[in-house]
Amino acid sequence: LALGRRNLVLVGFMGSGKSSLGRMAARRLHRPFVDTDAWVESRSGQSVADIFRRQGEAAFRRLEAEAVAAAAARRRLVVATGGGALRDPLNLRRLRQGGVLVALQAEPEVLLARAGRLPGVRPLLDVPDPLGRVRELLAERAELYRQADLHLDTTHLGLQEALEALLALVGEGSAGATRPR
Ligand code: S3P
Repeated sequence: LALGRRNLVLVGFMGSGKSSLGRMAARRLHRPFVDTDAWVESRSGQSVADIFRRQGEAAFRRLEAEAVAAAAARRRLVVATGGGALRDPLNLRRLRQGGVLVALQAEPEVLLARAGRLPGVRPLLDVPDPLGRVRELLAERAELYRQADLHLDTTHLGLQEALEALLALVGEGSAGATRPR
């Protein structure tokens, strides 16, 4: 597998590393990076947390679907999606169309430790028992993330190691990085 013109689309739970790894992979592959949460924030002029608080989750999901459609219409991108993007089957279909989907995975404790690093940013984890919530949501979403083309567990990987593993997985490893294109 090599990406060709297809988008490299990162899916997976909050804290799995989609945005950090996506940005790093984009730099290595000389591709533009699109983060659907950031797209929603710049489009609406509000943070994701503010949209959840003021307009509710449904309003956020509508904006997220627009972001997905906009990204999926393009090629040669690296796309980081929000952890709930695949709940909408239309989003999944659109992303698959011109993209290779890689699901990033990690153990619940690790996801929470990474996601919790930015307080107030993840409204879904703003609850008394966030670890319980992570487990619940993971159970609900396991089926969705399973539909990705490829899977990478980053539990025991640092960012740099995870990046190399990701690039190798999609056939764009060190050999690929220097291949003329
Ligand atoms: C969400 C994940 C968040 C963001 C929103 C909802 C989810 O994105 O889209 O808070 O439903 O899992 P990250 O996965 O980038 O944190």
